[in-house]
Amino acid sequence: MPKERVRIFDTTLRDGEQSPDVAMSAEDKCRIAVQLTCLGVDIIEAGFPAASEGDEHAVRRVAARVGRWVQPGMNRTRPPVICALARATRRDIDLAARSLGAAQRPRIHTFLATSPVHREHKLAMSCVQVLERIGNMVAYARRQCDDVQFSPEDAARTESEFLYEAIEIAIAAGATTINIPDTVGYTEPREFHEIIAGIKEKVVGIEKAVLSVHCHDDLGLAAANTLAGLRGGARQAELTINGIGERAGNAALEEVVMALHTRQERHGLTTRIDTTLLHPTSKLVSEITGMVVAPNKAIVGHNAFAHEAGIHQDGMLKSRDTYEIMRPETVGAPESRLVLGKHSGRHALAARLRSLDVHLDDVELDIVFSSFKAVADKRGSIPDDELVELTLHLSAERPLARVGS
Ligand code: KIV
Ligand code: ZN
Repeated sequence: MPKERVRIFDTTLRDGEQSPDVAMSAEDKCRIAVQLTCLGVDIIEAGFPAASEGDEHAVRRVAARVGRWVQPGMNRTRPPVICALARATRRDIDLAARSLGAAQRPRIHTFLATSPVHREHKLAMSCVQVLERIGNMVAYARRQCDDVQFSPEDAARTESEFLYEAIEIAIAAGATTINIPDTVGYTEPREFHEIIAGIKEKVVGIEKAVLSVHCHDDLGLAAANTLAGLRGGARQAELTINGIGERAGNAALEEVVMALHTRQERHGLTTRIDTTLLHPTSKLVSEITGMVVAPNKAIVGHNAFAHEAGIHQDGMLKSRDTYEIMRPETVGAPESRLVLGKHSGRHALAARLRSLDVHLDDVELDIVFSSFKAVADKRGSIPDDELVELTLHLSAERPLARVGS
């Protein structure tokens, strides 16, 4: 059966920029947008023009830089859709439309909160007023742009019947994508699956729009919830590189894409992402935003392909499949490392020494292994030059073994 494709909507430049203490210049955004275009994302959310003059300028620059860009050799035949965020007001929508002028495929993304807590405390609007505003503002956006996305903010905490009604109104007013945000990262996978499957089943006219998911990571479930949403029938995933974003961040693009890729047999979904560019893209975003990637971060962390325990290293030396479910080269990362530390075994030590052109017999290896363990017990890992140094003492400690060897 042919696999269905998931559209990858990257919001590193918008929700990602909402990470505390992160501000990207227009030039920074253009550099990331070029990389995202090469990576193969379908939609780039470039910013929120009403937030500041600088952001409006940045969205214009991104639209002009990559909004018409395709060249031979790229893994795409059309430029990415360039999207700008707008609250459900005429002013925001006008600004978004104007800033997208240079894009061949512009999209306006407008949103309004629908959950009871937001309606009451933030908006001070009744249900009727919320529905009316959605209908009016989606229709207004649609008069300016053929591609309109609507998000019922805090959808995951909205009463389902009211959510269905809001979505029906947005679709009737011309929304072409309906994005379901778990704005505060509150749901868990089974629940989010039910929300998306419920929308697919109950909303009249849902087949006229692409259904999208946008998950935050407050409980560390953003990637799992995104996959659950896709399983429930969504066909667009909103993601950021390195999972950056408001508070605990968004679902990480590299995690969701590699889960779909590595477990294709379960998900049956494809993307157009060139996975070999995931690691370089992560590095670029980290360098530009100053947000350091944790060493143990899935897919792109420094330790994602490093093995320390003796049992694991022994397995890796026998077959990489024992402890690696992906190859580092598939995500463009440097090759796997066997880190020599206090948990490492003889087998890994011997292999590393051989790779450094130091060949020992069994007795010599025993001697070096015990000095190695003594040092490693006090320190984390031992670099190659210090390993070689440990073997230099051999001839003094065991002169006979070296003679004639
Ligand atoms: O998290 C959220 O609700 C958002 C919306 C603007 C889609 O970022
Ligand atoms: Zn968000």
